[in-house]
Amino acid sequence: APASGTDGSGRGDSDGKITLGFAQVGAESGWRTANTKSVQESAEKAGITLKFSDAQQKQENQIKAIRTFIQQKVDVIAFSPVVESGWDTVLREAKDAGIPVVLTDRAVDTKDPSLYKSFLGSDFVKEGRSAGEWLTAEYAKENGPVNIVELQGTTGSAPANDRKAGFAEVIKGDDKFKIVASQSGDFTRAKGKEVMQAFLKSHKDIDVLYAHNDDMALGAIQAIEAAGKKPGEDIKVISIDGIKDAFVAMNQGKINVVVECNPLLGDQLMDLVKKVAAGENVPTRVEVEEGVFTQDQAAEALPSRKY
Ligand code: AHR
Repeated sequence: APASGTDGSGRGDSDGKITLGFAQVGAESGWRTANTKSVQESAEKAGITLKFSDAQQKQENQIKAIRTFIQQKVDVIAFSPVVESGWDTVLREAKDAGIPVVLTDRAVDTKDPSLYKSFLGSDFVKEGRSAGEWLTAEYAKENGPVNIVELQGTTGSAPANDRKAGFAEVIKGDDKFKIVASQSGDFTRAKGKEVMQAFLKSHKDIDVLYAHNDDMALGAIQAIEAAGKKPGEDIKVISIDGIKDAFVAMNQGKINVVVECNPLLGDQLMDLVKKVAAGENVPTRVEVEEGVFTQDQAAEALPSRKY
């Protein structure tokens, strides 16, 4: 987009359209693919010109993309920060260039909240708590010990940090729950499978798998089956996201519960983008509504899953 628009506001493309630079995390999961599609479709629907960049899960790539957007003088920058820390410098560069920033899906850790206009996404701590609450209810009548292995998301990312913390907060009230191993599977199927294979080798008595997303859970299920065990029965599986494949696995009895994390943020994002481009005030935090699904709800919910 040229530096200034034709609408006299100094904003917008030469055709008066808003240009949004969006720096996506990558394509690590089914959730992410759905999120990207939602952003692209909603931009098109809203008449917003989208410059899209895929950082392949690397912070340095995201920083590069944001700097390119600043040079291109886009009207608004939105991004989903791969990790929580280390953003102040580039956010200050955007601010100095007068380009408003909207965070989507993942938050940043900063002491200066003026560096971005709004955050749109989920409460990941709450998701972790919901996972923990299902577990404590499931084992309420048992003495334990309940040996848990945890597949964490990308190290340093907000969903990994928060889902770990929310879950730990709930289970710590009862010392029969023991996290016997916890390692990152980087939110991917391949790593989920690989790390679960290692868990199964070093721990013979795993009762529960807590995976920070569906893709890692689905990869881990392959490892559990290859080890001759029944996922969902021999090892209970708790997962987060709610992609269609996870609902299929729940239907087959292989995942016990899925805590929803909604990737369909596109329309709400475009609303925020229009507002910040027009200089309007927006809420600093906008959270999306989410549910928890158990196996008996999976069959009914599957046909209407949108991602
Ligand atoms: O930030 C949201 C998380 O990122 C999703 O839960 C996970 O699937 C994705 O990779």
